[in-house]
Amino acid sequence: MADGGAAGTVRPVIHGLYDVIHRRRDVRAEFTGEAVAPDTLERILAAAHAAPSVGLSQPWDFVLIRSGEVRAAFHEHVRAERDVFAATLSGAEAERFARIKIDGVLEAGLSIVVTYDPQRGGPAVLGRHAIADAGLYSVCLAIQNLWLAATAEGLGVGWVSFYREDFLRDLLGIPAGIRPVAWLCVGPVSHLERVPDLERHGWRQRRPLDLAVHADRWGSR
Ligand SMILES: Cc1cc2nc3c(=O)[nH]c(=O)nc-3n(C[C@H](O)[C@H](O)[C@H](O)COP(=O)(O)O)c2cc1C
Repeated sequence: MADGGAAGTVRPVIHGLYDVIHRRRDVRAEFTGEAVAPDTLERILAAAHAAPSVGLSQPWDFVLIRSGEVRAAFHEHVRAERDVFAATLSGAEAERFARIKIDGVLEAGLSIVVTYDPQRGGPAVLGRHAIADAGLYSVCLAIQNLWLAATAEGLGVGWVSFYREDFLRDLLGIPAGIRPVAWLCVGPVSHLERVPDLERHGWRQRRPLDLAVHADRWGSR
């Protein structure tokens, strides 16, 4: 870093990182159905596995799902859960939701279920004694690493959370006590939208950064 040529190489790297962060999208409709190359999959899993974790517990596992049968069974469940949510809506909101696609489970050839094992690295997990959720936060960081690495590789990722944990545990034979945290659809895409789907469909707008930043005390700008 200290050598004079470093600035020239570091800047494109920084630019590339921000570019990936802002290009990343949650993908539902744009999967082409093509396979993910094995070496690419290896790299995005290695990126996920490089995430920080409380007490170096690395409490995540990755279940790779290619079986059309398993994906179809999960998709049926997602459809039912979509109906459960839809039943809580009415009027314009219900109409808006009806137009929104919430998963690409059938379209993407690969899904990755990321799990959380609260026993991993225990019982004395350094940094988790006061905040039990710190283990779960660690899993989410692994997911974000995977998501950004996949985006950099030109792939799309879609996070599906319209499921009951017990259903997914049974479907995949995940042991009791281990939580499925995310079903991720992963694969090549035709393109990434510039604007999030929910914003494009008028469901919700992104919040300006200024409103999220507080100075010294909550509510003070
Ligand atoms: C924890 C979590 C769960 C999500 N679950 C779903 C889901 O079930 N279906 C879906 O279409 N999108 C899901 N998303 C994607 C969000 O809707 C999306 O991230 C958000 O609208 C912003 O869009 P962007 O990711 O393209 O920036 C989920 C995202 C997160 C972080």
